[in-house]
Amino acid sequence: MGNIRHLIEPGDLTNAEMEELVDLGLKMYAEPKKYAKMCEGKILASLFYEPSTRTKFSFDSAMLRLGGNIIGFADPSSTSDKKGESLADTIRVISYYADIAVMRHPKEGAPLLASHYSEIPIVNAGDGGHQHPTQTLTDLITIKRFKGTLENHVVAFSGDLKYGRTVHSLIKTLARFNTKKFILISPEELKLPTSLKRQLLDKYPHLMIEEVNYLDEVIEQIDILYCTRIQKERFFNEEDYLKLKNSYILTMKSIEKAKLDMIIMHPLPRVNEITYEVDDDKRAVYFEQSRMGVYVRMALITKLLGVDCDVRG
Ligand code: NCD
Repeated sequence: MGNIRHLIEPGDLTNAEMEELVDLGLKMYAEPKKYAKMCEGKILASLFYEPSTRTKFSFDSAMLRLGGNIIGFADPSSTSDKKGESLADTIRVISYYADIAVMRHPKEGAPLLASHYSEIPIVNAGDGGHQHPTQTLTDLITIKRFKGTLENHVVAFSGDLKYGRTVHSLIKTLARFNTKKFILISPEELKLPTSLKRQLLDKYPHLMIEEVNYLDEVIEQIDILYCTRIQKERFFNEEDYLKLKNSYILTMKSIEKAKLDMIIMHPLPRVNEITYEVDDDKRAVYFEQSRMGVYVRMALITKLLGVDCDVRG
């Protein structure tokens, strides 16, 4: 509908816009008080058809920190979804009740569909195993904060590269920022989908992608290690999940030979991919990563609502 901006996948934002959001998010992190009234009188609807802790609460927190209000649900069984209402009808009505909506849904494409019926900006907060663009913004602001730049890194992804939507969104995005090399570490069964790999190589023929089964083969090269959880809920049978669930467990021993300025990221929740001893290592930034998610989401909300932070900030 019209010229409303939605964020359904990372490609909806240009590189310049992503950098602008990251930089604004960093300013908001440094001086949150300055932005405390930017969204006064505005309402954010958070529509979570699938479980979430960080994404939902960080959006809620972001809107509240901007002086706005929130409505929504974290359990669709308490809504008319249960009575069989279509997503299209729900979203049409929500458009009259809120100024921006954030949606997580188990079905790939649900937020895109919703955006066709919405009169307010829709933000995809994760659709099935597909995309998770605001986690990508969270990852970018973390990389900028800890590594100073989004470019020229050796970035390794480990764990469930097949179903992990955070990986799918981040790899597509980092490919746009001159990444020096991607290293994909996963069991054979959980490799990055071939279609996505092909898409990346078609678009960026010089991109370096190395695929390995084990971290120790590559640990010394890595600048950014992005660990992920095995996505249990996307497996078709329990047996396959059990076979793979402990495939990758990061310990102090596994990072013994890592660079001293490597950073370890994880979108969280972790199940047991990273042992607790690693939390105290200064390279572990995953909790700071979830903190940064609030600030970059504040930046995103102001952008989609058309609030000019430069003038009023
Ligand atoms: C991720 C997700 O929902 O895809 N979590 C998050 O948003 N921080 C990662 C995951 O669930 O493994």
